[in-house]
Amino acid sequence: MGRFPNLGGSRTIGQGNCLKISHIHAGVLGTFGLLIVLMVGLGLFNLVEADRVDRAFQRLAETQWHKTQLATQALEISSRNSRVTMEIFLQSDPRIISQLLLQRQTNSERIRVMLGELRPLVGEREERQLLDRIVAARRIYMASYLASLDWLVRQQRAAEGRAMMIQDTLPKLEAYHQAWQDFMAREDQQISAMSRTEAVDYAASRRRNLLVLLAGLALSAGFLGLVLWQWREEQRRAQAHTQALEVAQLDLERKIRERTAQLLETNQALEATAGKLSQANLELQTAVFEARELARQADQANAAKSAFLANMSHEIRTPLNGIMGMAYLLLDEEQPVGQREMTTIITHSSEHLLNLINALLDLARIEANQLELETAPFDLPQLVTEVVQPFQPQARSKQIQLAASLAEDLPVMVVGDVQRLRQILLNLAGNGLKFTDKGSVTIRVECLAQDERQGRLRFSVTDTGLGIDPAVQPKLFKAFAQADVSTTRKYGGSGLGLAICKHLVELMKGRMGLESALGKGSTFWFEIELPKAAVGGTP
Ligand SMILES: Nc1ncnc2c1ncn2[C@@H]1O[C@H](COP(=O)(O)OP(=O)(O)OP(=O)(O)O)[C@@H](O)[C@H]1O
Ligand SMILES: [Mg+2]
Repeated sequence: MGRFPNLGGSRTIGQGNCLKISHIHAGVLGTFGLLIVLMVGLGLFNLVEADRVDRAFQRLAETQWHKTQLATQALEISSRNSRVTMEIFLQSDPRIISQLLLQRQTNSERIRVMLGELRPLVGEREERQLLDRIVAARRIYMASYLASLDWLVRQQRAAEGRAMMIQDTLPKLEAYHQAWQDFMAREDQQISAMSRTEAVDYAASRRRNLLVLLAGLALSAGFLGLVLWQWREEQRRAQAHTQALEVAQLDLERKIRERTAQLLETNQALEATAGKLSQANLELQTAVFEARELARQADQANAAKSAFLANMSHEIRTPLNGIMGMAYLLLDEEQPVGQREMTTIITHSSEHLLNLINALLDLARIEANQLELETAPFDLPQLVTEVVQPFQPQARSKQIQLAASLAEDLPVMVVGDVQRLRQILLNLAGNGLKFTDKGSVTIRVECLAQDERQGRLRFSVTDTGLGIDPAVQPKLFKAFAQADVSTTRKYGGSGLGLAICKHLVELMKGRMGLESALGKGSTFWFEIELPKAAVGGTP
């Protein structure tokens, strides 16, 4: 890994700064460009404007100059004509007079042409009036002049002609010339006014241009200042970003170092744990193997024990049957009183021993999974009667009421292992009688549910005897387990009965239990399903 990890955020910030700085550069360049364009534009505008004003002024000046020229020439020619007129009136030679008249005529014609040229150049009303005044004064003067001339030339009355000339024509000539003077004065005024206006226009134009330039400069300076301020701000922000980025990078590097160290530690711990686990696994595998081996050996030992038990039970039962048979034969014989009691004890002990051996044999078969149930149809009420009957003498002697209660809906003929069922019921009824000193023992059979094929039956034996402490109830169904050692001593028994009963019920796919309270009697029950036997005895 490099010194600085690649941070997406930092790249974005850097790009953003570059973009902003390039924007600022563009802004500065744009400002200068705008300023230059503005100045060049203003310069061009001034040039064009000056040219336009110059040309207009030139046009006006030329016109004005032309008009003044024409007026000056016309006044000059008229003055010259005045002198010619004076000469005409002072001459007496007709030939010279006629030459002077011709010269004067030519001059007069030139003045008329000039007046014709002046007319289109005159624009203002006042100017027009002045020109009209010249034309009118000229007409009056010409009329007077022609009248004087008429006196002088046609009527040959020189004295009257001269007198008229002096008294009438010369004042009119003066008025005529005055009209020209007025016209020229007006032209002079116009030229000066025009010069003044142009000067004012120039000054206004310069001021305007200056103002525009100043405004442009101020705007540009403001914009430039704004751009520079932004640039400085961006630089400051970029610097802050860079510092923050460096701090973040340092922090990140530190965290990465810490995390790497933690990971290394964790890895080492994991490796150590994995080593321990594999060791434990190995030990576990060995233990499992040993346990299996032990279980196998135990199974073998158990099987050997069961086989031994079954063999021994069988072997013991054979001579015991012989002993019991002989004892019963002896009881049938005439014997002295003492011997008969001894023979009776032999038969009772033998029966007890045979029961014990049978129980051991059953237990051995159950443990070796060799006990198999038989199925055959049997009469259920008859079974119950056969269970109850053998116990009646004992019940009577203990003054206990022994009763059987069969539900009305009970199926009569059912299919099952009647011997094993009898065995269970005998043990439960025997226990009930054995552990009850007064009251009753009742055998009940009920039908919990049934259909045409089978019924679920509940068998129970209820007594009013000792009752059993709830603490010892769970262990009663284990082999050789008895509730109380003292009662065992008093009532006898091997403690195998209930264990065998429970195994048998479970073989019949049923369940077994008890409800009991110390001093309040007990109810041992079991529930099994039994198929109903078909009519005629076949299931
Ligand atoms: N109805 C009962 N009332 C009181 N205690 C009982 C009753 N039934 C069984 N027990 C107790 O349960 C023990 C086990 O009974 P179980 O039938 O297994 O053996 P047992 O009767 O002692 O011997 P066996 O049945 O082999 O003659 C009895 O010893 C007794 O302590
Ligand atoms: Mg018993």
